[in-house]
Order: sequence, then structure tokens, then C-alpha cells
Amino acid sequence: MIVLMDMARRTNLRINNFAGIVFGLCLGILLSSWFRKIILECTSSAKGSCCLNYHVNININHLPVNIEKSLNQQTPAKTAGLDLNKYIDPSGKWFVLIGVITAKKFLDSRAVAAFETWASSVNGKVLFFSSEGSLTSYNIPVVSLKDVDDSYPPQKKSLEMLGYMYRNHYKNFEWFMRVDDDIFVKGDRLEKFLRSINSSRPHYIGQAGFGTKEETGQLHLDTHDNYCMGGPGIVFSRETLRLVAPNIDDCLNNLLTTHEDVEVGRCVKKFAGIACTWAFEMQHLFYQNYKEYTGSFRTTLKDKAVRKALTLHSVKESRQQYRIQNYLHAVHIQDLQHKELQLQREITDMDQLFGMQQSKINQNKQGLMPSISKYIPENRHDVIAWEFISKSVVSHRNMNPRHSFLLPTKYALEDMIVQVLQMVNKNARQKGRTIDYKDLWYGYQRVNPLYGADYVLDLLLTYRKHKGRKLTVPVRRHTYLQQAFDEIDLIEDPFTSSLPHTDIKYNSPFLFRELGMGSNSESVNSNKLYETVHFILPLSGRLQIFQRFLSNYEDICLKTKEKSQLHVVLFNNETDTATVDKLIDMIGSYQKKYGGSNIEIIYADGPFARARALDLGASQCGPDSLLFFVDVDIVLSRDILTRLRLNTKQGVQVYYPIVFSQYDPEVICGGHTKNCHIDWQNFTGDMGYWRSFGYGIASMYGSDLKAVGGFDTTIQGWGKEDVDLYSKFSQSNITVFRSIDTGMVHAFHPVFCDSNLIDAQYQMCIGSKASSYGSVRQLANIIQKRPEIYNRKVKNDTSKKKR
Ligand SMILES: *[C@@H]1O[C@H](CO)[C@@H](O)[C@H](O)[C@H]1NC(C)=O
Ligand SMILES: *[C@@H]1O[C@H](CO)[C@@H](O)[C@H](O)[C@H]1NC(C)=O
Ligand SMILES: *[C@@H]1O[C@H](CO)[C@@H](O)[C@H](O)[C@H]1NC(C)=O
Ligand SMILES: *[C@@H]1O[C@H](CO)[C@@H](O)[C@H](O)[C@H]1NC(C)=O
Ligand SMILES: *[C@@H]1O[C@H](CO)[C@@H](O)[C@H](O)[C@H]1NC(C)=O
Repeated sequence: MIVLMDMARRTNLRINNFAGIVFGLCLGILLSSWFRKIILECTSSAKGSCCLNYHVNININHLPVNIEKSLNQQTPAKTAGLDLNKYIDPSGKWFVLIGVITAKKFLDSRAVAAFETWASSVNGKVLFFSSEGSLTSYNIPVVSLKDVDDSYPPQKKSLEMLGYMYRNHYKNFEWFMRVDDDIFVKGDRLEKFLRSINSSRPHYIGQAGFGTKEETGQLHLDTHDNYCMGGPGIVFSRETLRLVAPNIDDCLNNLLTTHEDVEVGRCVKKFAGIACTWAFEMQHLFYQNYKEYTGSFRTTLKDKAVRKALTLHSVKESRQQYRIQNYLHAVHIQDLQHKELQLQREITDMDQLFGMQQSKINQNKQGLMPSISKYIPENRHDVIAWEFISKSVVSHRNMNPRHSFLLPTKYALEDMIVQVLQMVNKNARQKGRTIDYKDLWYGYQRVNPLYGADYVLDLLLTYRKHKGRKLTVPVRRHTYLQQAFDEIDLIEDPFTSSLPHTDIKYNSPFLFRELGMGSNSESVNSNKLYETVHFILPLSGRLQIFQRFLSNYEDICLKTKEKSQLHVVLFNNETDTATVDKLIDMIGSYQKKYGGSNIEIIYADGPFARARALDLGASQCGPDSLLFFVDVDIVLSRDILTRLRLNTKQGVQVYYPIVFSQYDPEVICGGHTKNCHIDWQNFTGDMGYWRSFGYGIASMYGSDLKAVGGFDTTIQGWGKEDVDLYSKFSQSNITVFRSIDTGMVHAFHPVFCDSNLIDAQYQMCIGSKASSYGSVRQLANIIQKRPEIYNRKVKNDTSKKKR
């Protein structure tokens, strides 16, 4: 959980319970088909075989040992990074040499990204070819080609590169590949593919092209000629290189177009006598992403084409290289987990076959056969409810029962559907059909913390038959899915573990307790621990509640002599001067007891406006003051002071705690308020809810408030002013730290809805009253016990509304 919280802090995400608990996931398809038996071949018939689709064989020892040493010794900014003769061991035989065509301006970005990501998956070597005099401060193997500049199209660079490869490395490699610097190559898959081809024969492999319609006739190609498109990469067998490379001068002297790949194709045709591979499959293996013209697989990374491909083009942004690598690794892990799941199931199966005693059968949870009824509830309260999903989610767990998809849920579903379709389409070619995903019609989901997440999905699919009579039909399909939870893994968060010790403590939500134990307290800047916290409290009436607040404040700050100041912004109410006087008296008595300097009253005129009140309060304090905006309904514990001091950093971070909002004590206690004690620090679901969407309580420095533009004081009454300020911070370069805080609870107060309000306002009032009434579970229990309440209330409410 600590790791999760920390991630939430760094990315300003709210912690989502659903995504939070899905730690490791493995997917198993269950049963059922009511339309046609087209799903599930994978699991039912292929027990024990795995549904592996992408296999990375990461070659960590990519650099020979002596090279690594020379890497470390290398001083920055030498010509062309590495000693290439050392980089390629002339006596060794490697499989493939990949030449990446790059340019000076991309050496420190794309080339580095390529080298750090896919290059290590290649069984062989990767060299970066750039213009004459190329310099890089990174340790990547760069070849600066003599007499070659960075002009585009890079015809000379490309052909000279082939010449260089031939002269220096012809004997060392079986295959040679020419790629651009905006490609991602899956080295291991490429190897597997090339191993099936005889490199002693001339081959010229890639995605065949003839140019666009407009270019017809201008590329000087004969009707049956083609060329391999440069973008997704071109592979030459050693034999092709032997035939072509000695003649590149001839080719360079006979250029007919400005298209680099076309010229390479013409050269290969002329001297090796072969054309680019015609096979239809090549467009999937050497993948050109037409869906994102300028993109870098930002939106199309999860396409099934990405899994199938050997190369991915184009990746213009170098940081996306890392993302793609990450994604492919994640997919690989997922596949391995799935394999484990199936093996565990097989073990269970075997145990049963061998008549093992029930108690000795494979105890691993993953070994349980997928089933909707792994868990059998003992009574009504233990039943785990399903949530309905379609275009939106209908859930009993949320205050707002019908809401749109939260992003993590959406991504989880997308990933799962991709996996399902992969299983469905396994061996699709042999079966002569493919099934494509169209849409999710509807579905149900639930999470069992002990076993995993269950889904029932009604998918809309397209069934395409290639063999025999061709057929394309839309089909609907029920799938039952189960994501089994893995064992819990504890992984140290590299981000926090690499920080100096002090910083970790700084952000720890458990800091107060740690400090209380007296351990390492000197590691935190001690001045900060005793910094004055300025409480700013807008007030208008609310006599009894204010009494409670003051008494609470006395307990946590005054009696304990904490460094704090209370600034009460009091709205004067001329029609009710009695209450105002009582409030002033009350503050006066505390001032007398504890000295006047710690509590002050700021008078405000006019109708109540929270924005104006907070603005007034803040203006009383200097830019270096730590401000804490609080409401009179909030009950506080002493440890918030430390959290406020440490989570708020001037010029760096503001703290927006998520407070717990109590339900109506009458509902909590089931109507027996007399002997019912409510522990305000009991955070179970029946006691209240976390106000994830409340932004009223916050702490920040005066200077930061000013820097983002302060409050919008034109906002009247309650509400909106807090969201306005929150969005200002979100858009600024100040980090918004948001976390639940167990030291602040919004105490319940009854809402009175005046039936004289206009209808819309009255309905809104009823709505907000209802949301803080009680947990859905308890309200449901009340109604179940006494249905007559429900019936009566509904009738009376309707009559009121019509008035
Ligand atoms: C590969 O091709 C060469 C040249 O055509 C031939 O001599 C050799 O037998 C082939 N190897 C295999 C395994 O087919
Ligand atoms: C002033 O007090 C009266 C009586 O409590 C109340 O009805 C009225 O709304 C208050 N006015 C303002 C501006 O708060
Ligand atoms: C919190 O309240 C629930 C429901 O009233 C009760 O069952 C539970 O024991 C309480 N927990 C604590 C720690 O007081
Ligand atoms: C970020 O913060 C620094 C220091 O507070 C400030 O000088 C700079 O202008 C800010 N940058 C942006 C983009 O707001
Ligand atoms: C509505 O509520 C009143 C009490 O407020 C009760 O006397 C009356 O019977 C209720 N009406 C209906 C139709 O139940």
C-alpha cells in the first residue's frame, strides 16, 4: 500500500480501489457459449501448452566484457562513441548486423533510445550510421561515414552504409539489416524469423512497395518491379550483400529518383537480380503504422498488429521507445503468468486424477479451476454484488450509482479483451477464420479480494471465414472471465528507495508515529517540525458547532502548546447580533485563558462568501506563512499538524487532504442514538465515506497561493471557490499532494431543506442530504426491515414536489 500511495503522490492520481487491488493478474477463460462454439479452443483443448505470443529473449550480456570496461573508461564527447573494432569481435560469428541510419541531430535522442531499448534484444550488433564528423557524448556505437552529410533523402548514407557493412563485417554476420532511427525492432523475433530462411541464397526482405498513385511512372520502375520500403526496415542476406555492396558506386552514379529506398531496390535488382519479397504477410511483420502518421504508437500500442510485428515504424519520439519496450515486457510477463496459471491448474488436475486426498491437492490458489462459485457466501451480507457495465458503470459501491468508466477500469477491460481475442484467435490461420472485436455490448464485474476479479462480458465480434466459402458475420458472444490474484509481491519502489533518507521520511504518511518513536528524528529538518500553522476558519453563525471546534482546537493545539494560530473570519449578521456576540465572547474566553496572540477575529461584512473569507484570512499572514484552510465542521487530531508542515513545501507542493465524511449517527446506530457511541476515527464503510471530490480543506504557503492567482472572490456562498483554486494549482508547476488523512473528519450535521425553495434547488438539497445519510448497505437494511417507511416517504415526497 505504501508503494501505491507513493505512486499516487507522484502522479497526482487518486488511488482507485479497484485498480489498486489488482496486483498481478492472470487470465483464464471459463466456459460457455450460447451462440456458436468458437471461443475457448485455447484453454479447453490445449491444456499444458501455453498461449505465449510474444517472447523476449533479453540478451543482457549484449556487450562483451571488454567492451563494457572500455565503455566505463570512456571519457565523454569522443568522436563516434565506441571503438568499433572492439565492439565487434572479428573472430566471432554473429547472426545479424543492424545498421541504423541516423543523423547528427538525432544521435543524442533517437539513437540513444534505440540503443538502450531494442538493441539489446538483437543477437548480433547494432551500429548507428551518421554523417562525417558526428559526435556524441553517449556510449553508443556510431560510424561517421566519410564524405557523407545529413541531407535528406539519405541515399548516399544508405548505400555507403551497405558498403561499410560489406567491407568490415561481411564475414561476421549471416544477415544485414538497414533501418531508420525511428523504428523499434524485436530482435529475438526477427532472429526466429530469419533462422527459417537460408542466408546463403540472395534475399531482399521487407514490406514491398511500388510508390503511391501519384508517383506512378516517376519512380522509373518496370511494371513488375517493386522495392522494399525503408521505414519498417529492410533485410539483406549475406549473399545479397556480397552481390550488391561492391557495386554501390555504380548505383550512386545512376540515381534516378530522390527516393532512397527505391534506389536501394533498383541497385539490388540490378546486381542481385531479385525483387523485394512479395509475401502478403510482410506487411504485418514489417509493420508500418498507418493509423498514426506523425505518431509514435501513443494511441495504437495495444493493437494486435503490434504484438505480431517484427519491427514497428514509426516511433518519432524517443521516449516512446521506452514505453514500447515496457509494454512488450509487460505483455511477456502476462503471458508467463498465464502459463504458470495453466501449469498450476494441470497440477491440480493431476492430483485429482491420481485420487489424491482432498486436503493434499495442490493448495495454490492459482491451481483452482476457474469458476464463478469458488467462493460461496455463508449469509446474505457476504454476497459480493456484481456491477453492471455498458457505456457506463452501475455500481452499489459508489455514491453516484451510475457513473462513467474510471480510466483504470477502462484500461483493465481493454487489456483483458485484447487477451481474450488473442486466445480466441490462436491458430486462427489453421482454422481458416479470425474473430475481431467490435464492441462491448454489456457486462458485469465484481472483485473478490480473496480470489480475483470476475467478469461476464457480452462481446460484439466479427467472425471472418477465409477458408472455403468466405464469410463475414457479426456475432455476439458471452464470455466468463476470471482474473486470478497472484501471490502478493513486495517490490521496493526504486524511486523512493533511491532518495536520500530524509526525503523518504518527509513524504511518509506515517511520519508522526515514526517520529513519536524517536527514531532518526534529526534527519528531518527540525525547524520545519515546529513551524507555525495558521488555521483559517470562515464562520457565520453555527454557535454549537463552533463551540465543539474550539474545544477540539484547544485539545490539539492550545493545551499542547503547538505552534499554531487561529484566524476566525467572522461574518457579521445584523439581524442576529446575539449569535455574533456569543461567538465573540466564546473566542474572548479562550483568548483570556491562553493569551490573545494565538487567536484572532477578522470581521467580514456582507453575505457569507467562503472565497472572500479565506482570502481575507490569508491576507493577514505573510507570504512565508503556512496556511491551513479549514471548516468548522471538521474534527481534527493532533498529528495533522506534522503532516501539514511536512506535506506542504513552499514553492514545491501544496497539500489537499481527503477527509472522511461521517454519515448520520441515527442511521449508523440504527435509530438507537441514546447508547450509541460513535468513534470518529472508525473509518469503516458504514460510518462514512472519503470525500474524494472535496477540495475545501487544504494547506499551502501564502506565496504559492499568490503565485497561482489566489481565490476568485467573485464567487458567492459555498462551493466552487475550492475547485477553482485546486485547478489553478493543478495547472501550475506546484505539485498537488492528495492523500486521505485519518486526522480530519467532517462531522455529520443535518441538512434542512426548505420546502419553499424553488423546485430545482429543493431537489438538489434533497440530493445532498441523501448522499450523507448513510451507507447504501445500511439504508437497504432499514428499508428491508420496514418497507412501510419507504412506501410512505415516497408518497409524501411526491406530493411535496408537486406543490
Ligand atoms: C542454403 O543454400 C545454399 C546455396 O543455395 C545451399 O548450398 C545449402 O544447401 C542451403 N542450405 C540448406 C540448409 O538448405
Ligand atoms: C442572519 O441570521 C438569521 C437568523 O439566524 C438568518 O436567518 C440569516 O440567514 C442570517 N443572515 C446571513 C447573511 O447569514
Ligand atoms: C467500526 O464500526 C463498525 C460498525 O459499527 C464496528 O463493527 C467496528 O468494530 C468498528 N471498528 C472499530 C475499530 O472500532
Ligand atoms: C515554476 O516555478 C519557478 C519557481 O517557483 C518559477 O520561476 C517558474 O516560472 C515556474 N514555471 C512555470 C512554467 O510556471
Ligand atoms: C404523509 O406524512 C404525514 C405526516 O407527515 C402522514 O400523516 C400522512 O399519512 C402521510 N401521507 C401518506 C399518503 O402516507
